[in-house]
Amino acid sequence: MKIGIIGTGNIGGTLARKLSAAGHDVRIANSSGVEGVRAFAQEIGAEAKDVHGVVADADVVILAIPLPAMRKLPADLFDRVPSDATIIDTSNYYPGLRDSRIPEIDNGLPESVWVAQQIGRPVIKAFNNALAYTLAELGQPKGTPGRLAIAVAGNDVRSKQTAMQLVNQTGFDPVDAGSLEESWRQQPSTPAYCCDYDADTMRKALAAAIPGIAPKKRDQLPELFGKLGPNPSHADVVAMNREANSIVR
Ligand SMILES: NC(=O)c1ccc[n+]([C@@H]2O[C@H](COP(=O)([O-])OP(=O)(O)OC[C@H]3O[C@@H](n4cnc5c(N)ncnc54)[C@H](OP(=O)(O)O)[C@@H]3O)[C@@H](O)[C@H]2O)c1
Repeated sequence: MKIGIIGTGNIGGTLARKLSAAGHDVRIANSSGVEGVRAFAQEIGAEAKDVHGVVADADVVILAIPLPAMRKLPADLFDRVPSDATIIDTSNYYPGLRDSRIPEIDNGLPESVWVAQQIGRPVIKAFNNALAYTLAELGQPKGTPGRLAIAVAGNDVRSKQTAMQLVNQTGFDPVDAGSLEESWRQQPSTPAYCCDYDADTMRKALAAAIPGIAPKKRDQLPELFGKLGPNPSHADVVAMNREANSIVR
């Protein structure tokens, strides 16, 4: 497939590397123009583009940028995306900690519904509920016992299947998390968020989410991280998430 990735940081860079290795025709862009991504593109066998070049003719567009940056994308960008393309949103909202406040989301609008409204196109939410370390280091071949899972939410059946196929190709079991309106179940500080669960446990975690609780827990994260001390390990962060956002009520 022709896959355009906007954002080449922890998530976009890892997805570009993996999907290029899987044989896809990957094009990448960030905010610094073609030259800004040329060296990395050459390293991973992808094509360096600007954001318009990334989306033109794409079968799949992956948005791997900070959530508020969706508003900074060119207004006409998605007019150029083929109407049947799958658009995947990987973003999470950390108001106060990293992101500027977005009143609609603070008032309960699911994050990816807001993203879809900003870009004027439906999106599939995927790759948001695994930490960057998980995505880069913990993928395994299909069928491996205990293979970790990633939740995939969205409304268009064909696009969701495409996103699930890509999750599988990056080394994770895709779990159908329902509609985009239900995608609050995989947002930060829910039981399904960044806990390194397998598919069965991921389904239980998605079902265990309680409306309205996660944003309050998310806002307590600085305190929880403070208790972990400097330079917590990946295992420390996953253990903290599992304890703070337990599946068991
Ligand atoms: N890190 C994680 O563990 C993790 C896990 C799951 C999901 N996520 C979510 O995935 C998204 C990306 O996270 P990340 O950790 O990969 O972030 P990151 O390492 O900071 O990378 C962000 C990327 O977005 C690009 N970017 C920012 N504004 C842009 C714009 N207006 N146009 C084009 N490119 C732009 C940046 O390009 P420049 O360098 O040129 O500015 C950079 O390549 C975020 O929404 C995050 O919440 C992160």
